[in-house]
Amino acid sequence: MSGKLASDYPSWKKLQQLYDAEHSKIVLKDLFAQDPQRFSKFSREYNSTSGPDVTMLVDLSKNLITEPVLETLLELAREAKVEEYRDKMFAGEHINTSEDRAVLHVALRNFNDFKIAESGADEVSAVLDHMKEFTEAVRSGAWKGYTGKTINTIVNIGIGGSDLGPVMVTEALKPYAKRDLAAHFVSNIDGTHIAETLRLCDPETTLFIIASKTFTTQETITNAETARGWFLASAKDKAHVAKHFVALSTNTKAVTGFGIHESNMFQFWDWVGGRYSLWSAIGLSIALVIGYENFEQLLKGAHGMDKHFKETPLEDNLPVLMAVIGLWYNDFYGSQTLALLPYDQYLHKFADYFQQGDMESNGKFVTKNGQRVNYQTGPIIWGASGTNGQHSFYQLVHQGTKLIPTDFIAPTTSHNPIEHSKHHRILLSNFFAQPEALAFGKTEEEVKRELGPNASEALVKSKVFQKRKVSRHPRAYSPLFVSVGALIALYEHKIFVQGVIWGINSFDQMGVELGKVLAKNILAQLEKPEDVKGHDSSTTGLIHYYQKNRKE
Ligand code: F6P
Repeated sequence: MSGKLASDYPSWKKLQQLYDAEHSKIVLKDLFAQDPQRFSKFSREYNSTSGPDVTMLVDLSKNLITEPVLETLLELAREAKVEEYRDKMFAGEHINTSEDRAVLHVALRNFNDFKIAESGADEVSAVLDHMKEFTEAVRSGAWKGYTGKTINTIVNIGIGGSDLGPVMVTEALKPYAKRDLAAHFVSNIDGTHIAETLRLCDPETTLFIIASKTFTTQETITNAETARGWFLASAKDKAHVAKHFVALSTNTKAVTGFGIHESNMFQFWDWVGGRYSLWSAIGLSIALVIGYENFEQLLKGAHGMDKHFKETPLEDNLPVLMAVIGLWYNDFYGSQTLALLPYDQYLHKFADYFQQGDMESNGKFVTKNGQRVNYQTGPIIWGASGTNGQHSFYQLVHQGTKLIPTDFIAPTTSHNPIEHSKHHRILLSNFFAQPEALAFGKTEEEVKRELGPNASEALVKSKVFQKRKVSRHPRAYSPLFVSVGALIALYEHKIFVQGVIWGINSFDQMGVELGKVLAKNILAQLEKPEDVKGHDSSTTGLIHYYQKNRKE
């Protein structure tokens, strides 16, 4: 990214020509018919070269790409200096320019492999040791609550990156969970969230984990204060807070001000972005649920993917390939969204997690240099676990008017092989069938043949599937904990590569600020109608309606 817009690169213009020349007409069925080697040409197998074994097959052949397109997309990545920016990230250069920060989530799972000079990187292992010690104390029962009972419930209070990662990963790794340790996650400022959670807790046996990088986030601090009040209503003595509240934060002053002792604080650093923080102390709830050893395996799985991203030529580099193909749909086909479709119940929060991961990172309309882009940036991320999605939104994906890139994800082995894996085989038959249907569709002739000569034209037409729908398959293999680490890192780096090509800063989130400021102003005006000032007529009307109708 050299002060240019992505659309200025010669390869971008070449891609536009390729699209105009044939891609508006291309069909996958023809591409497969013309080339019997298409699957082997466009699929890549990932085998980790460091840490525990992870293998993964990423089949890119059911995408609307040809060899010239892929070559040109990789040319674009080179022109945008993806490799140079990747190396800058790993070296700890301040690539988050607006906040003048390094971007070093990779340092959290590095285990002294890459040399990283940034201050704090050398403190990572001490924090991991602290997490290990604490996790083992709680899980073994050595850590006692204020009445001498062991902890059997944890409540993580955090929002955004301080919530979504722990929620997603504790679900993804549930097979390894300590089943007699209940884990709850409170994020929403809606009092219902904390109230319903506290109903499930006993103050004598509950540990609250206050997770906030800044320790100033309104939702988190308000929920934490409510939890502390609820706890003290039973415990009475503030000294007992030390046994039941710990903090995950970069802000020591605010943490100690809240009443949590520094020894119960797990540090991280400003170079850990909120949405990239599950690998840091923010992952404490994960470590508590699955055990420290498994948490470390998760980190090692991610590190293996970091190594792959750092060292593999672009042609075989999975995050790069997924990024450029995503960009091809986003910027040339005009696709607006990307659906993440894990055929794995344990990954049912995967799309929720990457809504923040991708959209907060790449939802930007100006480049790092302040120029307005003249192309689309980050896609809208959505999705649900298969096969549930098939019974809700797949109709539109198959026969609607939109082109929706889809990432199908599945593990080869189930943790629950009930009835000799009957369920898993049915699940996977759907996992294989849906992309096949998307790619090859069904022609009018085929439908006519099936229905016979007496079928009405309307019925025939309603059963036609276009042949241009697309899918990609990253498939994670067991064992799950390392695979999950690798899978998350794969998407993190995909987001990074796209951000570099679009020339945007993927590591700030200025767009969330304005709403927070306005809410603060409105909060001070909610008491009396005469205080409501400085708004448009719609906002004023809504607030007045609320003031007139509330029952408190
Ligand atoms: O929504 C904005 C944001 O800053 C996210 O980037 C972050 O993950 C979240 O709020 C929570 O922030 P904190 O960890 O500082 O409470």
